[in-house]
Amino acid sequence: MMSARQILPSSRPVISPSLLSSDFARLAEEISAVEEGGADLLHVDVMDGHFVPNLTIGLPVIRAINKYASKPLDVHLMITNAEQYLQEYKDAGADILTVHQEACTHLHRTLTAIRDLGMAAGVSINPATPVSTLSEIIRECDLVLVMSVNPGFGGQSFIEHTHSKLRELRSLIAESGSSAVIEVDGGVTKDNAAAIVDSGADVLVSGSAIFGADNYRDYINAMKGVQ
Ligand code: DX5
Ligand code: ZN
Repeated sequence: MMSARQILPSSRPVISPSLLSSDFARLAEEISAVEEGGADLLHVDVMDGHFVPNLTIGLPVIRAINKYASKPLDVHLMITNAEQYLQEYKDAGADILTVHQEACTHLHRTLTAIRDLGMAAGVSINPATPVSTLSEIIRECDLVLVMSVNPGFGGQSFIEHTHSKLRELRSLIAESGSSAVIEVDGGVTKDNAAAIVDSGADVLVSGSAIFGADNYRDYINAMKGVQ
């Protein structure tokens, strides 16, 4: 079993650029550029046009990404029936596999199956989903992904209420003895990164901000607070 703590570097914050905002026609070059620029993970957004109102990429593209990636793949499934495809995502190269609390009826079973396949098990909650919905399965989570926008699209604005959810999640993790790390996804930029880390985030996902920057390294360094 591979916990998120074994996959993540020890320094904070961990940066996971969302490839959704990269140039898909030059994906291999974009992967190298963010890896050389200091990315710790590569965030891959899978959308099914059903759980979220958008379609992105799936298994064949993840296999292709995995051929060129050196950093671990942080796969965010925004799909229903995720439990049917866990082995396929493992085979495609996922290191962290995150499912949505709102899209999984038998969440305990799904998280356990992800761990049994040797991946770190993540669960994500939408902005409208309370942290308390995780209280019974927090020990089965290696990572909790707090959505700070409504999932479906890059380039949206960070929802400020996320800060109080992060503090509540931090307490839940500490009280339960879970070793889960906290990831935040949506509207994260160099300007709000430090405050998000202060509220409890370990991992920052960022798509449009990093891939929209002139220099990926400078931008990632700014997110990490490195001058
Ligand atoms: C949204 C995705 C995000 C998205 C973030 O549903 O889960 O990973 O790519 O993009 P930005 O950083 O542009 O908000
Ligand atoms: Zn995502």
